[in-house]
Amino acid sequence: MRTLVIGNGAREHALAYSLSQDPEVTEVHVAPGNPGMAGVATLHPGVKGEDAAAVLTLAGELAADLVVIGPEIPLVAGVADALRDAGFAVFGPSADAARIEGSKAFAKGVMAAAGVRTAHAEQVGPGASDAEIEAAVDRFGPTWVVKDDGLAGGKGVVVTPDRAAAVQHVHDVHAAGNPVLLESFLDGPEVSLFCLVDGETVVPLLPAQDHKRVRDNDEGPNTGGMGAYTPLPWLPADGVQRIVDEVCVPVARQMVKDGCPFSGLLYAGLAWGADGPAVVEFNCRFGDPETQAVLDLLKTPLGGVLNAVATGTLDQLPPLEWEDGYAVTVVLAAEGYPEKPVTGVAISGVAAGDERRGVRAAGVAEKDGALVSSGGRVLNVIGTGATLEAAREAAYAELATIDLPGGHYRTDIGLAAVEGRISIPE
Ligand code: GLY
Repeated sequence: MRTLVIGNGAREHALAYSLSQDPEVTEVHVAPGNPGMAGVATLHPGVKGEDAAAVLTLAGELAADLVVIGPEIPLVAGVADALRDAGFAVFGPSADAARIEGSKAFAKGVMAAAGVRTAHAEQVGPGASDAEIEAAVDRFGPTWVVKDDGLAGGKGVVVTPDRAAAVQHVHDVHAAGNPVLLESFLDGPEVSLFCLVDGETVVPLLPAQDHKRVRDNDEGPNTGGMGAYTPLPWLPADGVQRIVDEVCVPVARQMVKDGCPFSGLLYAGLAWGADGPAVVEFNCRFGDPETQAVLDLLKTPLGGVLNAVATGTLDQLPPLEWEDGYAVTVVLAAEGYPEKPVTGVAISGVAAGDERRGVRAAGVAEKDGALVSSGGRVLNVIGTGATLEAAREAAYAELATIDLPGGHYRTDIGLAAVEGRISIPE
């Protein structure tokens, strides 16, 4: 099977690595990719994921048997539709179905129709007056959740107890021309559950937890994600099944009923409160950084799994097999991230081809044959172990061998779970 992955982050590096381990996969290409993944994939740096014509030409030149679209922007822009119309097998939803991430208001409509528990929400458009904004903000709180209702790649959300900061974010999002979604705050620990979805067929992967704030103890601004662990030792034994039954299956069925069936990866971001799981948001793609940890524990060859979804045969796929134990991934970020990342800094202790050490590259470029930083989240390391504690130790031991001057990372990924500090509200 010749495979083409679209995207350039650590998530796509993880996808490319797992595909390269599948005996049925003969070729792995990534467009545009990044130089850190050159050890497992042929890179096509001139092809941008949102350029449907360029992706189509490349898929044709490669005679790709399977195209896997990583990020949300090409999905929302309809790149999967263009490829499917041309006869390619694609892992990733249509533009219609990708609205589950692209428009929070659309997602709320699907959830309301499907009877799925979620936060109360109100949209405030860019034309709202100062008085209307103030009044809307006063209908929420004491913790405000202010979301950019355009595409923000998980980065446009401010969660704050500070009313003035909430109002400011409304103005900032409006200044960018996007509507805002105000939401009531959902209590309880967060869960990311990724489900393979093919129409009404839903197959969950292992549950994971992201760490979105930039600093230890969940302090500082939100980021694209600073680290993750999987599975979740504190989740009730029937937790995954409840999320599938109460959230993912009803949503998948509703989307079929509404004429926009989902095919690809449905990412349910949830808070587990006193009444069980409630949806914080949906994404239409694999999450980053959770994917790096989750795929590391998947024993079933990935190419066959993604191909089953792409060809509408997920219901015939044998049950997924998983390694025992835990995986932890930690993000190494550039100095100044998330506000103003410093780039162009030489990274030592890592080179293309280091996947087996658990390195997944994101914001890296090549200069004089070495890797330099080129983005905010520079790379991830993954550690695995029989216990969550052992997986944490493995990840941080690996990270200690890599140097990015000025770089920073959280030291507490998975720590609250190890110390038994995560509990479900009564
Ligand atoms: N884990 C956050 C995201 O992928 O949006």
